[in-house]
Amino acid sequence: MEKMWSGRFSAGASNLLDQFNASIMFDRKLYREDIEGSLAHAQMLTKQNILTESEFIQIKNGLKQVKDEIESGVFEWKISDEDLHMGIEKRLTAIIGDAGKKLHTARSRNDQVAVDFRRYVLRKNLEIVDALKLLMSEMLLVASKHTETLIPGMTHLQHAQPINFAFHLSAYLAMFKRDIERFESSHERNSVSPLGCAALAGTPHNIDRDMTAELLGFNSVSVNCLDTVSDRDFALEILFNISTMMMHISRLSEELVLWSSYEFKFIELSDEYSTGSSIMPQKKNPDVPELLRGKTGRVYGSLMGLLTVMKALPLAYNKDTQEDKEGVFDAVETAQISLEILKEAIKTMQVKSHNMSSACKVGHLSATDLADYLVQKCDIPFREAHFITGRAVAKSEELKIDLSDIELKYLQEIDARIGKDVLEFLSIENSMNARTSQGGTSTKRTKEQLEYFENYLKE
Ligand code: ARG
Repeated sequence: MEKMWSGRFSAGASNLLDQFNASIMFDRKLYREDIEGSLAHAQMLTKQNILTESEFIQIKNGLKQVKDEIESGVFEWKISDEDLHMGIEKRLTAIIGDAGKKLHTARSRNDQVAVDFRRYVLRKNLEIVDALKLLMSEMLLVASKHTETLIPGMTHLQHAQPINFAFHLSAYLAMFKRDIERFESSHERNSVSPLGCAALAGTPHNIDRDMTAELLGFNSVSVNCLDTVSDRDFALEILFNISTMMMHISRLSEELVLWSSYEFKFIELSDEYSTGSSIMPQKKNPDVPELLRGKTGRVYGSLMGLLTVMKALPLAYNKDTQEDKEGVFDAVETAQISLEILKEAIKTMQVKSHNMSSACKVGHLSATDLADYLVQKCDIPFREAHFITGRAVAKSEELKIDLSDIELKYLQEIDARIGKDVLEFLSIENSMNARTSQGGTSTKRTKEQLEYFENYLKE
C-alpha cells in the first residue's frame, strides 16, 4: 500500500509500524470536522485564485460523496492510511482525480488536526453546557418542592444545624453554574483558528486565514503558527473542566449513596435507575451514583495523561500529540452520559421528607440557636453562652431527649436569665428559618437562591 509520504522512501512500512503509528481507528470520529475544514480551505484557495472554480466544484462534490460513504458505512477505514486526514484525502483523489491532489496546498496535517480536534472540543463544550443546564432545571424542580423540608445540615458528616433540602440542592446548583461558566470561558478563549499555520511556519501561498476562520465559526485567527500547531491547551481545559464537574457530581453521588442507605433512608432511587444483586434477592443497589463516583477517577486519569504527554515537548508538532484524542473522547462521552443519567436519577427519585425531618431531632441541632438566644436576648458574651448551652446539651443527654424538646425548667435551672421565649428559638423549624442572612438557609433566602438560578437559566 503506497503512502502519501512515500516519495523519499525505498521500502514500504511494516505492518507493525502501521498498527503502532495509525490514529485512523479513533480519529475517524472527527470526520465531519475534517471534511468541513477541507471545504473551507478549498473555498478560500479558490477565492485566492490558487484553485479554479471547476476544481472547487469537483472537491466539493467529492467531499460530499466521501461524507455519504462514511455515514452509510461503506467507507473503508484502513490503518495503512494512518489517519483520517490521509484516508479522506486519498479517497477524495480516487473519486475526483487530480483536483484532489491540489487540496493540500498551503496546509499540513499539523494545522488540519489542530483545526479538527479544536472544533470538536469547542462543540463539546457547548453540548456539555446544554446538558448541565438541563440537569440544573431538573434539580430546580425537585428543590422547589422542598424549601420547607428539614434535613440535618452536616459538617464532618455529623449533624450540625438544620437546613432545608432545597438549600442543600442549591449548593450543587451553585457548583454546576460555576462549571458552566468554566466551559463557556474555555470556549471563548479557544475559539481561535489554526488553519493556515501549515506545518509550523506558515506558508508562502497567498492565503486568507480570516476567511477560513470565519467559515469554520472561529472568533479569531491564531497569532503564532509555531505555538498553534502544538498547542493543546484547549484539550487540557476541557479535561480539567470535566474533571471539576465530575468531582462535583461525585460529591452529590456520594450523598445519594448515603441517603439511599438503611441508615439514612432520606431518598429512594427509582427501580428504573437502581440495580439488584445476583445473590441477595432483597438488595436494591445505587449503582448509578456509585458509577458516577467511579467514573470521576477515569476522567482525572485522562487529564493527568494529557498533561504528561505535553510535558517538556519541544516545539512544534511532535507525534506524541497524537495521544491527545482518546482520553478527551472518553472524558467527553463519560461527561455526557453522566449528566444525562444523573438528571434522570434525580428526576425519578423519591424524597422521604418525613425521615429527613425526623433525623433533625437527633443531635441537638438547635444548640447554636440557644447560644444565639443567650447573646441576643440576655446580652451574654458568646463564649459564655457557648458554655451554658453545652450544659443544656449535657442535661438533654442525661434526660435522653433532643435539646429542641427540653422543658423550660431545666434550662432555667442552668441559667436563671433564660426566659420562656427561648422555646420557640429551640424548635428545629425556627432554627432553620432564623438563618436569614444573605445566602442562608431560611426558606425565604432559599427561595431567593432558587429564583437566582431560574433567572440564570432563562438568560
Ligand atoms: N494523526 C496525527 C495526529 O493525530 C495527525 C498529524 C500528523 N502530522 C504529522 N506530521 N505526522 O496528531
